[in-house]
Amino acid sequence: MPQLAQRMRRAKPSAIMMIAEKAKALQASGRDIISFSIGVPNFLPGPHVYEAVRKALEHDSGQYGSNRGSNALLDAFLAHLAQVGLTGYARENISTGVGAKHVLYNLAEALLDEGDEIAFPTPYWTSYMDIAEILGARPKLLPCPPSQGYKLTPRQLDEALTPATRVFLFNNPSNPTGMVYTREEIAALAEVLARKPDTWIITDDIYHRMVFDGLGYSNFVQFQPSLRDRLVFVDSLSKTYGMPGWRVGFMAGPKAVADAVTTLNSNHITNLPEMTTAAAIAALSGPQDVTVARVADFAHRRDRVHAALTAIPGIACPRPQGAFYAFPDISAFFGRRHGDTVLADDVAFCAALLEAKGIACVPGSAFGEPRAMRISYTCPAEQLEPGMARIAAFCSEIR
Ligand SMILES: Cc1ncc(COP(=O)(O)O)c(C=O)c1O
Repeated sequence: MPQLAQRMRRAKPSAIMMIAEKAKALQASGRDIISFSIGVPNFLPGPHVYEAVRKALEHDSGQYGSNRGSNALLDAFLAHLAQVGLTGYARENISTGVGAKHVLYNLAEALLDEGDEIAFPTPYWTSYMDIAEILGARPKLLPCPPSQGYKLTPRQLDEALTPATRVFLFNNPSNPTGMVYTREEIAALAEVLARKPDTWIITDDIYHRMVFDGLGYSNFVQFQPSLRDRLVFVDSLSKTYGMPGWRVGFMAGPKAVADAVTTLNSNHITNLPEMTTAAAIAALSGPQDVTVARVADFAHRRDRVHAALTAIPGIACPRPQGAFYAFPDISAFFGRRHGDTVLADDVAFCAALLEAKGIACVPGSAFGEPRAMRISYTCPAEQLEPGMARIAAFCSEIR
């Protein structure tokens, strides 16, 4: 058989999907499993989205569409951007993709040559590393340990970015930590970025509407408007609107970048389907009540999860303020035993937790932070307390 391309040696399946699949398989075999593994919202979009799709079906053109996205979709996204204070963009600044993951992949192809440096804070969303590795870029990791609340400091950023850094990739609110940067923190990082003219900036802010405690969302361009020439904002319908399977993502940034992503679309996907486009426009422009209610629910869940975790002796967990993740530091248990099992590291801890208590969490090493594990708290409501109780019981049995 002929060989696969070299780059496939660097490509690996998503670690999160692998855990989620394992939990599903155990469930199918009759085990009582509570999955805190996959980051999918536990809700569906409002009825207006389905109504829009039904209407679109009646007028289906059956034709290819715009590589950038239909004008109506671009306008709906521009209005959505303006609502979070990102104004001054036009259709030419926007492009779309099959989810934010695809947009990020396209951006990496558009901005990075093989061997180029891409810097991002750690813990990071797993696909940042995977995409960089597939494309042969050189990741530069900026460690943000639990002791600094999993957040990047201006000093760290200043020291890390050199003229050789082609892309700085930032994620706020964060998957996996749920941390959200304050206005002051964003302003201070923006000031550093303004002094790094050779570096593209991507802000993957797909959870920007999922912020708790009245903290609000801020972007670097709001403090340093000059960054607009080299900053790309990435967004998605997946989490905000309970539409991960619909696969719609967006970018807003310099025209040259939006054009590049559109060119890649013309060679990869051609266009988003008409029905998906109709659903996306309805989600962005229609009532936002489902999202608002869900974010309020996630804030309550955060309280319960955080309280349960911090009550466990040995666990430390910076308080998340957005998205739907918690990222407790479990390293105090490493090297100890649960029954006959030695909990050597995060992977062993998560495997033993799944085996002993039927709780699926993702080892932190999938996100570049092997001291922790990720809990995604979007499970059915009635599973939340029992799930947390099982984690507490597991930890109390560790010797
Ligand atoms: C930080 C972050 N960016 C991007 C994505 C991808 O989102 P999409 O479903 O739009 O591809 C995810 C999904 O989990 C994510 O957590």
